[in-house]
Amino acid sequence: MIDPARPLVVRAPAKINLTLDVLGKRADGYHELASVMQTIGLHDTLVLHPAPAGEFSLVCDAAELSGDDNLALRAARLICDATGVQRGVRIALQKSIPTQGGLGGGSSDGAAILTALNRWWDLGLSKEHLIALAAQLGSDLPFFIWGGTARVAGRGEIVIPLPDAPPLWLVVARPPISIPTPAVFRALTPADYTTGATTDALVARIQAGTLPPLNDATLLNALEPGVLRAFPAVAQARAQLLAAGAPCVRMSGSGPTLYAPFTDLAHAAAVHRAALAAGMQVWLTTTAPAGF
Ligand code: C5P
Repeated sequence: MIDPARPLVVRAPAKINLTLDVLGKRADGYHELASVMQTIGLHDTLVLHPAPAGEFSLVCDAAELSGDDNLALRAARLICDATGVQRGVRIALQKSIPTQGGLGGGSSDGAAILTALNRWWDLGLSKEHLIALAAQLGSDLPFFIWGGTARVAGRGEIVIPLPDAPPLWLVVARPPISIPTPAVFRALTPADYTTGATTDALVARIQAGTLPPLNDATLLNALEPGVLRAFPAVAQARAQLLAAGAPCVRMSGSGPTLYAPFTDLAHAAAVHRAALAAGMQVWLTTTAPAGF
């Protein structure tokens, strides 16, 4: 039992897409996805302070994220509206996940608030109920209610948890541009659609407790070719990571953030050092299990 009268510290991890198949465009304008998503060690930190009923406020070290439309704040309001609970919360949010990068930072903050307030206020909502609330706030939020390794379908709201994949070291690189998600999906053509076979194959391996060799055949992002074509800064960052010694580089989500997976820390650390020396914005981290 957590004491609702005392502040609560919560961690909100970033995610990567190990695979992201885009199966096609739906009648509602969204795209049908098949993806293996994975939380990683890079995380934001939130501190929740008790506040009088009806008071919802947020301070953030990134001033531009302190607004009323921050997903963390919207999540707090939503769970109060949905349950009728008479509570308030002051949220302090320290951002470490690069924003608008394809790592799901804002979505993770929102999902972390739903999960944390459910526990802090002892609301008793099931994971399924939390996922339904999360889906109202954005396509990427439901995954973070589970975290760890999961298969994601629909527009993102269908989450099937998988056993935690064997751990990987990751070099994560943020090219110096932001790309709005809707523009990336809008630029897709039927030639970019994929079958879902890459996601199916990876899911089978993870269910068997292993990972395949990680390469351009086993990891896929159907949004990546279009972004590489349209944004030379992303193509350049990818080339820099490969030149730094990464065997395989993939984009996460709608980008522009790239990641390179490794089974060996020494190899990952050498690529991280070389990328830093090349002036890139990079992080050395790991995949993170559910409940991280
Ligand atoms: O749901 P969310 O607000 O995160 O999605 C942002 C935009 O990304 C949508 O408005 C849509 O243009 C696009 N999108 C999509 N298919 C998905 C998820 C997002 O086309 N499965």
